[in-house]
Amino acid sequence: MATNKILINKFRDVFGRRPTFEAFAPGRINLIGDHLDYNNCPVLPFAVNLRISAVFAPREDNRICVADSVDRRGRRSFEAEERIAPYETGDWGNYPKAAVQGVVTDKIGERRRFKGFDAVIASDLPQAGGMSSSSAFVVLTGMIFCAVNGFEYPPLGFSSLMAAAERYVGTQGGGMDQAACVNGRNGKVLKIDFNPLCCRPFSVPDGISFVVADSLIKAQKTKAALSLYNSKPVESRMAAAVLNRRLPEVLKTVRQPFSLGDLTAEKLGVSDGEIDRAVFSVLKEGGYTYEEAAAAAGMSVDELKRSRCLMSDGTPLPEPPEGFALFRRVRHVLTERRRVERCARALEAGDAETAGRLMFESHASGRDDGGFSCPESDALTEIARSAGALGSRQTGAGFGGCCVSLVRSGEMETFKEKLMRDYYGTYLNRTHPEIPGGAKASAVFTVVPSDGARIRPLSV
Ligand code: GLA
Repeated sequence: MATNKILINKFRDVFGRRPTFEAFAPGRINLIGDHLDYNNCPVLPFAVNLRISAVFAPREDNRICVADSVDRRGRRSFEAEERIAPYETGDWGNYPKAAVQGVVTDKIGERRRFKGFDAVIASDLPQAGGMSSSSAFVVLTGMIFCAVNGFEYPPLGFSSLMAAAERYVGTQGGGMDQAACVNGRNGKVLKIDFNPLCCRPFSVPDGISFVVADSLIKAQKTKAALSLYNSKPVESRMAAAVLNRRLPEVLKTVRQPFSLGDLTAEKLGVSDGEIDRAVFSVLKEGGYTYEEAAAAAGMSVDELKRSRCLMSDGTPLPEPPEGFALFRRVRHVLTERRRVERCARALEAGDAETAGRLMFESHASGRDDGGFSCPESDALTEIARSAGALGSRQTGAGFGGCCVSLVRSGEMETFKEKLMRDYYGTYLNRTHPEIPGGAKASAVFTVVPSDGARIRPLSV
C-alpha cells in the first residue's frame, strides 16, 4: 500500500494532527453472473487494482469525521450511536453511516459506547460505473470503525455484515461486492457461492488481460437507478413466490421454501432440461399483473405486495404497463448460473475462448431477459467483439457503467484503439455529443485481480 502524501497532508490541514493508519478497499469487476447474488446463485468477480484509500486516526469520543481529499465532496460528520439517522437519499455520507450502523447494531448487545475516527479518503474508482465504489466505501469505513473499537470479524462474516449494512442506503443488493472487496486475492478470480457464503480463489489463463471500458452512461445506484436496480430483486422474489406455490405440482423433488438459487440439477436430482420444462410450464411468458401474480402465488395482492414487492421507500414496485416479466427474469437467473459454473470451469482449464463466448452470451441474457442493459452497453460490447475481444459484457448493477472484455494480452493495444475510435469517437459522439472528451480519454483501462481491503499503521 503506497503511503499517500497528499492524503496525509490533507489530514493535517483538516484535523490539525497526524493520521496514524492507512487503509484501502478495492472495487471489483464481475466477469460473469449479474443479478444473481441476491438469488443465492454463484458469481465470478475479482477485486481490482483501483480502490478507495484512506488515512485515519482514532478519536476519543464517538464522532466519525470523513473528509474527501479534493474537497469536491466536502466533509461528513456524525456520531456512532444506536440509531444513526440517514442523510438525504443519494448523499455520500450515507455509506460510512451504513457501515457504522451495521457494526453498532451487531455489537450494541455487548457495548454501549463506541469510539469514532477522523479520516481523509480518495478514490480512483469510476463513480456509478458498476465497479462497486459504494461497497468499497462501506467496507473501508466499516473496517476502520472495527479497528478503532477493537472488533474482529472473520473475513466472510465481515463481508456478510457489510452486505446487510449497505441496505441502509436503500439498495436491496446481494453480497457479491462486499465479499469480493474483502476477500480479493492477488492474481485470482473468485468463485463466490452464497448461503452459506464461500469464496474460492482460482487462477486465470496466462496471456489474457481484462480490459474495462466505461460506457460513460452513469448508473447512480442510489439515485435514478435505485428503483431500476431494486425492481430486479423484487421481481425475483415475486417469481419465487409463484414458483413456491406452483412448482411442487410438476417437480416432485423440490422442497419448500426454496429460492431461485435452489433450482439446480444437483439439488433437485433432475437434469437442467427437466427443471426448465417444469419452471416454464408454470410461468407464463407474457407480463403478470399484480392480480395474476398474487393468484398464481396463492396470496392476496396485499400480502404479495407487503411480503415481496416493497421498494426501499416502503412502497410496492409500480406495475409496469407491460406487466412483470417473471418468465424472462427467471430464465436469466437459471441460464446465467449455468454459464457462471461453465465459465469458472473453462477459466480454470485455461480455455479462455469458451469463457469469452459465455461472457457474450451472458451480456445478451442481461439485455434480453434480465432487463438491466442499455443501448450504449449493447453497442460497446458489440464493438468490443468486432475489435477482437474473446468475450465482453456489461459488469455490475447495470443500466450503463462499465463493460469488461477478455482480450489476448498481445492484442490489447489495437483493441483499445479500436474501442476509442468506434465507441468513444463514432458512436458516443453521435449519440451523446454532450459527454466531454476528457472523460472519453480515460475511459478504457486494464485491471488486474488484486488483494482485498487492508489496514496498516503509518510509519512515522
Ligand atoms: C450491484 C449489487 C450486487 C449485485 C450486482 C449485480 O453491484 O450491489 O449485490 O446484485 O449489482 O450483479
